[in-house]
Amino acid sequence: MLKHEQIEKNVGLLFVLTLFVVLWGGLLEIVPLFFQKSTTTPVEGVKPYTAVQLAGREVYLREGCYNCHSQMIRPFRAETERYGHYSVAGEFVYDHPFQWGSKRTGPDLHRVGGRYSDEWQRAHLMNPRDVVPESNMPAYAFLASTKAKTSVAAQIEDKMGVMRMYANMRGIPTYSDEEIKAAKADIGDMTEMDVLIAYLQGMGTALSAMK
Ligand code: HEC
Repeated sequence: MLKHEQIEKNVGLLFVLTLFVVLWGGLLEIVPLFFQKSTTTPVEGVKPYTAVQLAGREVYLREGCYNCHSQMIRPFRAETERYGHYSVAGEFVYDHPFQWGSKRTGPDLHRVGGRYSDEWQRAHLMNPRDVVPESNMPAYAFLASTKAKTSVAAQIEDKMGVMRMYANMRGIPTYSDEEIKAAKADIGDMTEMDVLIAYLQGMGTALSAMK
């Protein structure tokens, strides 16, 4: 039998056993989530991103908006009063990779969809200080001069194909061949800013009615 003292006095053994405990504990926490319905089934009303939103999400990732914005409302009063219903796992089933984040230089964006008009979003992205004088968010006016189809949407069919693969792995609703074929036409001549706004306006809207 190993005595506690022996473990405490042997750095190598302590390290190995600690590692074992942490890994085992981690597995016990994480693995069951893969099989829990509440984490793998979409919340009612949550749909796969449209081709336009998916392209907008690509802009969000490329520009690193997540460096200043989280998409995860915690279940505390201070958060729900400010942002709306707290985030639940079933809202993120179509998020690959998810954008929860933890850095909040700016406000959480999970329920920003519908909070402002498209015009406000456009003005804000062109120059945040035009609508929020004290803002330190960078301006993204350049997004208005690039067509999405030449950049973020250039491979939109492939991207949707990958999203469909993820959805099929979980057995949840996903894109049809027709939707994927129509993607380029849906995006048409929209700019990077247009598709980004479409993404923002859809964010967290499925549950916000429950506030
Ligand atoms: C350097 C940090 C920073 C980055 C990067 C940044 N933001 Fe912001 N954002 C802020 C701050 C601070 C605010 C609050 C002041 C304001 O409204 O401008 C804000 C506010 C917002 C709001 C309004 C939220 C609300 O509830 O009022 C939206 C929408 C937004 N940002 C979207 C974006 C998008 C999209 C990107 C990436 C293209 C982005 N932000 C990148 C800092 C940032």
